[in-house]
Amino acid sequence: MKYNFDKIIPRANTNCVKYDLRKAVFGNPDVLPMWVADMDFETPDFAREAVMNRAMHPVYGYHFKDEPYFNAIQGWLLRRHQWEVPTEWMSFVPGVVCGFNMAVLAFTKEGDEVIIQSPVYPPFHHAVSEHGRKLVYNSLKIGAGGYEMDFELLEQQAKTAKMLILCNPHNPVGRCWTREELQRVSEICLKNDVLVISDEIHCDLVLPGFKHTPYATLGEEAAQHCIVFHAASKTFNLAGLATSTAIIPNKELREAYVHYVEALEAHLGNIFGKVATQASMEQGDEWLGQLLDYVQGNIDYVSDFLKANLPKVRFFKPQATYMMWLDFNGYGLSEEELWQKMTQEAQLGFNRGSDFGQEGKGFFRINLACPKATVEEAMKRLTTVF
Ligand SMILES: Cc1ncc(COP(=O)(O)O)c(C=O)c1O
Repeated sequence: MKYNFDKIIPRANTNCVKYDLRKAVFGNPDVLPMWVADMDFETPDFAREAVMNRAMHPVYGYHFKDEPYFNAIQGWLLRRHQWEVPTEWMSFVPGVVCGFNMAVLAFTKEGDEVIIQSPVYPPFHHAVSEHGRKLVYNSLKIGAGGYEMDFELLEQQAKTAKMLILCNPHNPVGRCWTREELQRVSEICLKNDVLVISDEIHCDLVLPGFKHTPYATLGEEAAQHCIVFHAASKTFNLAGLATSTAIIPNKELREAYVHYVEALEAHLGNIFGKVATQASMEQGDEWLGQLLDYVQGNIDYVSDFLKANLPKVRFFKPQATYMMWLDFNGYGLSEEELWQKMTQEAQLGFNRGSDFGQEGKGFFRINLACPKATVEEAMKRLTTVF
């Protein structure tokens, strides 16, 4: 089957964050919205059918996650990432962000140091600062070929920190960390008894030519000192269904975590997320292959366009995710001037770089999970102003 990613789907007036909050976020209801990390593509047919079939049953009562549900996730992780995950390692969480917040609360106490690698997805910052823990910034470095981790700094910081929240692959810089890089992280964290939370929500969106390394496959010791989060939500455009998985190989950690989640009654979830996730993990390979090719096409288009028309905008091509991280500092404008130009003159709704950390000043994150026509329009608008 050939899927059509060119189709324009009107999303306004559907309580959609990306479209319906434009006025509130950008001060302009007419920006072309390319911010929030969901896709403007149709959620695939097999996921929608699963939801519709379940919706036909006239009772929407409490449910539980059964064996076929976990088997579907297991099969997916094995097929896509060669990662064998026993059922007992997995538990439901109502979202990855909620999941890592609960991990911070369950395994650190007020005042404890938690490391994040900024610029990084804003909820990483909040998961630490909003709970009275101390944020430690292991800022990424910009090398000749792209973003890199600062291992020397990490060595120092790990001596007193309790936890590292890893973004694997990394949003917004689009790095698919190599096994060697992750191995160094695990050596440092194991030596210093730092618990690693590995957010792997973007792992299925690794672009052609790159390979995701699940943190827990680095070795037995690393596996015993981590919590991995996975979800079908980014991959198959199911974010509104709030359904994710915590994967914890260590029995003691797992029991403590599940106890914490259950005490909050956060382990139930919704019936539609269950069936859509299961159907996607069972049937999604072909659709995902086509999606990744399409997204790569959009990335290649933007890369070529910027090089030819706006050479002052600097960027590294992403290795994973459908986002690009663009550096506009070459224009010598303040962050506020850039924001005004982008939102009011070009009428473009991109994410503001500094929301990902102070390293992101003068950057914008642009979401390319949209029809090519939208991407072309965005590039046209950029050239009218920059
Ligand atoms: C790194 C990362 N983690 C988590 C999320 C959101 O996860 P959830 O909707 O499951 O809370 C996002 C969404 O953009 C993300 O980029």
